[in-house]
Amino acid sequence: MGEFVRVAGTTEVKPGCGIVAEVQGKALAVFNIGGTFYAIDNTCVHRGGPLGEGDVEGSIVTCPWHGWQYDVTTGTCVANPAAQVERYEVKIEGADVKVLL
Ligand code: FES
Repeated sequence: MGEFVRVAGTTEVKPGCGIVAEVQGKALAVFNIGGTFYAIDNTCVHRGGPLGEGDVEGSIVTCPWHGWQYDVTTGTCVANPAAQVERYEVKIEGADVKVLL
């Protein structure tokens, strides 16, 4: 069974933005979409670009390397739904963003 692990403080992830968080040997991309937090794998399935560094519009992040777009709420690639990064359950505890690993 997994456990919730702190990945960031709630104020570290600004609304409409993402960050990259390294926890337990995994690189996660953590996003704040209008005050709701989401976490997906940081690694783009195209060539491994850092999704947490991509631009965010609505719930869509654009990979900074070659522009693949993903819905951060599902981890699904917009143009190719067969391409998928893992999505993690998130909960807020006090001022901590925690992800189920
Ligand atoms: S590595 Fe993400 S679009 Fe190419």
